[in-house]
Amino acid sequence: MSSSGRVTFHGVVVPPSNFLEDVVAGLALAQKAVPPKYFYDARGSELFEAICALPEYYPTRAEISLTSQHVDAIAQFAGPGCELIEYGSGASTKTRILIAKLRPEAYIPVDISESALRGAAEKLASEFPWLEIRAVTGDFGRPLALSAFGGSGRKVVYFPGSTIGNLTREEALAFLHMTRGQVGPGGGMLVGVDLKKDPNVLHAAYNDAGGVTARFNLNLLARINAELGADFAVDRFVHYAFYNAPMGRIEMHLASLERQAVNVGAYRFWFAAGETVHTENSCKYSIDEFQALAAQAGFRGEKVWTDKDRLFSLHGLVAA
Ligand code: SAH
Ligand code: AVI
Repeated sequence: MSSSGRVTFHGVVVPPSNFLEDVVAGLALAQKAVPPKYFYDARGSELFEAICALPEYYPTRAEISLTSQHVDAIAQFAGPGCELIEYGSGASTKTRILIAKLRPEAYIPVDISESALRGAAEKLASEFPWLEIRAVTGDFGRPLALSAFGGSGRKVVYFPGSTIGNLTREEALAFLHMTRGQVGPGGGMLVGVDLKKDPNVLHAAYNDAGGVTARFNLNLLARINAELGADFAVDRFVHYAFYNAPMGRIEMHLASLERQAVNVGAYRFWFAAGETVHTENSCKYSIDEFQALAAQAGFRGEKVWTDKDRLFSLHGLVAA
């Protein structure tokens, strides 16, 4: 643990998952896959921030717009002096709008990307000198011992950005169950969820003309090379993203341009020409679909806010 002013940094408080093991296990599958949480090294976090500013990537603008528009009602839902726990906090951009209005007792950002977490926490500390920040590097896919960081206020988990869409429906259900336990009866949850819409709008958002999303996707191979001593020929793979309508999700893949072998440490994997590594799902929900999922996890849907174009939704849930 380290601290500066009202910010304390807590290192990984869960057993770190094994990058090498996850990559080797994923590349051994019939449909090769690598979990999306590995996108977020320092370069990946920077590229994600660049994606948020793209003209084609509407979710960030839509969520900021709906949060600003409805901030009074959102603050009323969360309640004064709550403890605000944010999963996948990244640059904590949307959170600023909430913090200014809510004045939480404490803000607990949790992120797997140490660089993004530190940068955001230090910036927030100078912007909100009265705010107690307990920043946690961790994996939200595993239970975190949040009681170690908590105080006495009502617990409200904030999960913006539609990061929940990067989980399969089964994973999202498990995640919601876990957070329901963490906030306790009467605790709250604010979840940002991207809505189903014209597939052309979705397609453009994940295939931007400037190629930033492609760089974000391909950076995963560069990270595997750098950290695991692998030899992916990054220029022999291409970004491939499409809307899988029956599954209601964007899928991102990296497609091999030719038949080739890749070594990861002592392991060797063969790619046929056109074969892909599945790197991310980004599930899209209707409001009713998401409310049904939350209900299955024991949350009561109390409020739903959307932007004026109904591109994005923010759900205010209460643990039953
Ligand atoms: N909440 C921000 C950032 C969303 S990007 C926004 O709305 O813009 C997704 C964020 O989740 C990144 O900062 C990434 O580092 C983090 N993340 C992804 N998988 C994670 C995991 N398993 N555990 C913790 N953080 C994770
Ligand atoms: C973080 N997450 C919600 C983003 C999304 O839209 O699924 C990640 C991303 N992938 C490609 N572009 C953005």
